[in-house]
Amino acid sequence: MKKLMVRGGRRLEGEVKISGAKNAALPILAATLLAEGECVIKNVPYLTDVDNIIDILRPLGMFIERQEDGSILTRVEDDSCSTATYELVKKMRASVCVLGPLLATRKKARVSLPGGCVIGIRPIDLHLKGLRALGANIEVIHGYVEAEGEKLRGAEIFLGGAFGSTVLGTANVMMAATLIEGTTIIENAACEPEVQDLANFLRKMGAKIEGAGTHRLVIEGVEKLTGTTYSIIPDRIEAGTFIAASAITQGDILIKDMRIDHLHAVIDKFREIGVEIRKVRENPETGLHDVRARGGKSYQSCDVATLPYPGFPTDLQAQISTVLTLASGISVITEKVYPDRFMHMSELNRMGASVRKEGNTAIVLGVDFLSGAPVMASDLRASAALVLAGLVARGETVIDRIYHLERGYEKIADKFAKLGVEIKME
Ligand code: EPU
Repeated sequence: MKKLMVRGGRRLEGEVKISGAKNAALPILAATLLAEGECVIKNVPYLTDVDNIIDILRPLGMFIERQEDGSILTRVEDDSCSTATYELVKKMRASVCVLGPLLATRKKARVSLPGGCVIGIRPIDLHLKGLRALGANIEVIHGYVEAEGEKLRGAEIFLGGAFGSTVLGTANVMMAATLIEGTTIIENAACEPEVQDLANFLRKMGAKIEGAGTHRLVIEGVEKLTGTTYSIIPDRIEAGTFIAASAITQGDILIKDMRIDHLHAVIDKFREIGVEIRKVRENPETGLHDVRARGGKSYQSCDVATLPYPGFPTDLQAQISTVLTLASGISVITEKVYPDRFMHMSELNRMGASVRKEGNTAIVLGVDFLSGAPVMASDLRASAALVLAGLVARGETVIDRIYHLERGYEKIADKFAKLGVEIKME
């Protein structure tokens, strides 16, 4: 099994280019199931999770192939199959976003329930509630969602639960609603940039969607969607991870081709603790930003609460927590999206951090230094947190189960190596 070795103590310097967003690419690739004709999706990152969604889509009759220029070409060739099996879905929860497109185009879907994962129970009740409101008959049986949708119609749906809005639930209902009769209104829709990106892609295919980026989506069903070319937004979580990396190493890096407007809550927190973050350039054609992140000599503690967008993202909680293990004073971190997403904390404690957990809150007492240790990655963002800790820990950190990292960070070891880190994948 692959391991990642990081030797701590180097100050990060140089430039890094941000890749396309994983969490936009996955639903957008699933949405190509809706298109008549070819789609060309650009800026799709090279990640295991992208391979996983391709493995789900091919048995559903799609021709799907990476082109020489890195873009992905898709075309529906056979629409007879509407099953996504447990063997494939269990590898990646996001596979569940084929449900909406299958119902809309093939009038039925049989998709394995994804199950929970280390970050929590992760139900899909809201996805099913939304699709049922559109008229789908859905049964959950033998671990599969069996859905039939001969008579789907637009409807008004409130899509919220105990933890707020749902990103992929909104994606599923929005995709299904694009091709059915009538108007669908999703109240309490997720407004994450990745949901906006999906809406923009669907609109480019001919869908009628208003309100993307707000909590109220209005979708008027159309007869058909056509193939198109589309470029994915940059990955805000990757950009935030590099800000954290510059912060923790007292580094000075230029983060290229990111979207500063997708990271307001994150930048605000890093500035609050003492990191200097400045927009250096905006490309008027692409709307992308180059941002300089300069670490300080020491950091203030702070309180962080994760929330749906535009709040502080849960996907950057582990990374900022790692920086706060070295800040002066006590930081209080509250997880309001995934109350159990603290698996990284016990590994950080093994490296010398001082973190205590109470319910959905972690209390971090800043320490003077971390020390390298063998540690185990438990999920994607927890792995990123351990790499960050390794960048600054005294000695060598060896991170096991690094495949988690490869699910969501493109060429991460290469990118860190170019910034001056002693890092090796074995
Ligand atoms: N929830 C329900 N019922 C549902 C759906 C969600 O109770 O039917 C709860 C969840 O358990 C959670 C909250 O609602 O407490 C929010 O979950 P959401 O549905 O928004 O999460 P998701 O769509 O399954 C996406 C990202 C996650 C990211 C979350 C929150 C993708 C592929 N995944 O998941 O990304 O943490 O939104 O922003 O888009 C990651 O990239 O590491 C990752 C986990």
